[in-house]
Amino acid sequence: VLLTEQFARARNDRRVVVLEGFHALKHALRFGARIEAACTPDRPATMRLAQDLAPDLFDRLGDLVQEVAPATFARLAAVLPPTGVLAIAARPQIEPTTVLESPRPAPIVLLENPSHPGNLGAVVRVAAAAGAAAVLTTGARDPWQPAALRGSAGLHFALPVAGVDPLPFTDRPLLAIDPDGEPLTAGLTMDRAILAFGSERRGLGPATLARAERRIAIPMREGVSSLNLACAVAVVLYAWRAARPERDRS
Ligand SMILES: C[S@@+](CC[C@H](N)C(=O)[O-])C[C@H]1O[C@@H](n2cnc3c(N)ncnc32)[C@H](O)[C@@H]1O
Repeated sequence: VLLTEQFARARNDRRVVVLEGFHALKHALRFGARIEAACTPDRPATMRLAQDLAPDLFDRLGDLVQEVAPATFARLAAVLPPTGVLAIAARPQIEPTTVLESPRPAPIVLLENPSHPGNLGAVVRVAAAAGAAAVLTTGARDPWQPAALRGSAGLHFALPVAGVDPLPFTDRPLLAIDPDGEPLTAGLTMDRAILAFGSERRGLGPATLARAERRIAIPMREGVSSLNLACAVAVVLYAWRAARPERDRS
């Protein structure tokens, strides 16, 4: 199959995802993605990036990345990544109930109806960094859409990321992270919790607020009405991580 056809098809096929940029490909490879195609209009430049940014993957990238004519490359994405690399990876099949059953202490991030894919990507990125168990989303948007993958720099492959609607039954405690809650403190127990965050505009809906065991607020100086969604996720996850012994954080 021609590369242009392969990429065009990949954008409409939920079994695969298009990775835009070197960092997305790097993280996908580090976290076990199966790469079906990878290309660049300038192989020496890509291999220099590999040397500088991912020496651990230098040989694998050398085997994977094929050089294509600049005119062909330009047809593979609406906005070409500045790092000049595009790839197609198999999309992991995630079973939310299996994720929910995990006995590990790491909390799960639940995003209710996130509307901005860049925010969603930033959430996945910090959730991967902090060692969260998963990122689950409700609402119509696919959490694996290309803009979200760009925002996470490919870190969707580092932890389970899936859409759920509704959230399946679970024995995990549900904590609503909401500006009207009780203040977040260092002693808050979050092991195995589902940390629910609201949408950018509207915050958490009444059903989630009613179902939650507790509502937790990130204290803010007077006059500030809320934090950006991904910033709020970062604050809460790092409060959890800072309080955990090293062995639980991987
Ligand atoms: C941009 S905020 C939504 C603001 C919305 N107008 C509201 O009043 O909830 C998006 C989400 O980030 C989280 N968030 C932002 N700032 C927060 C804070 N200070 N305390 C707790 N959660 C916060 C909440 O989960 C919130 O639903």
